[in-house]
Amino acid sequence: MTDREHETRDVVGVGFGPSNLSLAIALEEYRANSVEDEISSLFLERQASFGWHRNMLLPSTTMQISFLKDLVTFRNPTSSYSFIAYLHAAGRLSQFVNTQDFFPTRQEFHQYLEWAQARLANRIAYGSEVLSIGLPPSAAPERSDHLRLEVADAARGSRWMVGARNVVISTGLVPSMPAGAESDERVWHSSEFLEKFRRMNPRELRRVMVAGAGQSAAEIARFLYDELPHAEVCAVVPSYGYSIADDSPFANQVFDLGAVDDYFFGTDQTRDAFWRYHRNTNYAVVDDEVIRDLYRRSYDDEVRGVRRLEFLNLTRVTGVKRVGAETRVSLQRGPDAEVRELSVDALVCASGYDAMEPTDLLGDLDAFCLRDEAGRLRVERDYRIVTTPEIRCGIYLQGGTEHTHGLTSSLLSNIALRSGEIVDSISARRAAPCTRETVLDTGPSHPS
Ligand code: FDA
Repeated sequence: MTDREHETRDVVGVGFGPSNLSLAIALEEYRANSVEDEISSLFLERQASFGWHRNMLLPSTTMQISFLKDLVTFRNPTSSYSFIAYLHAAGRLSQFVNTQDFFPTRQEFHQYLEWAQARLANRIAYGSEVLSIGLPPSAAPERSDHLRLEVADAARGSRWMVGARNVVISTGLVPSMPAGAESDERVWHSSEFLEKFRRMNPRELRRVMVAGAGQSAAEIARFLYDELPHAEVCAVVPSYGYSIADDSPFANQVFDLGAVDDYFFGTDQTRDAFWRYHRNTNYAVVDDEVIRDLYRRSYDDEVRGVRRLEFLNLTRVTGVKRVGAETRVSLQRGPDAEVRELSVDALVCASGYDAMEPTDLLGDLDAFCLRDEAGRLRVERDYRIVTTPEIRCGIYLQGGTEHTHGLTSSLLSNIALRSGEIVDSISARRAAPCTRETVLDTGPSHPS
């Protein structure tokens, strides 16, 4: 194991998706504009190169946020890292404007993210999976001005350590399979979709099933229908049919910065109202255009007298088993209905994700992190985990804060502003080194 602890950084980012990419840019722009010392940083990413939901970069799928909600614009409209700056560099600005569309394709947004990360290459370590975050051995917590991260180097098959005065955890959502289903070469979670689809001979896929009612489920059903003209596509939907995502102007306000304050400083009733009335802005809903596309295909089939696209509504997958080469899916239409089995060549579970959960990474350090009555991490408005006073380092979360900061926690809508808030917090805490009093008096934290 190599010990690179002498390389203690002011900030170490765990995971390098769009959230920590946005933070890396905010730190870079802070350096460029600050008379103070640089805030040194390193970002650790387990993938071998940059990748944002690569397995869902399906043709013609579009972003669900405006291009103006890019990595920087809401924090710094004049940043050279904006989507517009990218379009300009790519020589496509006028063509993009001519599309008269706020929502670029996911493919194009990915290219933008790749372009932005390439400009920060000297502070990113790819192929580096963080295994744990802890206190340096034998250091009393109140004495330690840094945390120690253990990192696995995939290419070398070795481990190394790095020190951090602040850690920003942004490891993303965790894929969730339906109970009774396990991923294998014929049973795929949507997060593995393109990779596993490409491993198959398309001619072997004559009957495919997609389970789920959200955006990914509908996009995959449409993709399979178009890519496999010889195949039957069976969509298993627990609702009566796909429901539309509400992105109308008033509802969209739940993604604004003011909504984060309203949620964070609000009462339980306020927070409940956000989820009760506005879940349909993001969860288990589908963009209007994709719903219409699928319905049109199904209707055209009916006119032509073919039945290639089948919708099993009010139905859930209750189990999956392999019998020889066959994959048999157990399906139930309502809790008291009989379970029936269907054989498929591949099952795609677009069954969603669990929220980011840093507990495993924090290991022994978790004992110093305070939790609310429901056992959830307490988090300050500046996204810093509330710790016992002896911990002097900052542990920040980008993601996993739905209970404290609301609906945008796992989304892109707020990343530019959130990154700016985290940089401000790190820089303010650095200017006023933590005494016991300042640690204790950090402003209002989320009520339990
Ligand atoms: P993200 O998951 O992108 O990145 C986390 C990174 O951490 C990954 O690269 C992972 O490899 C790495 N990592 C994990 N554990 C690690 C460890 N121990 N060590 C090192 N690295 C580790 N939202 C939105 O607002 N608009 C949209 O259009 C979309 N579109 C969309 C499409 C699809 C298909 C999905 C699944 C989701 C979306 N989302 C979205 C929501 C999505 O959460 C969001 O787009 C971002 O991925 C959030 O960025 P993060 O950087 O927080 O996580």
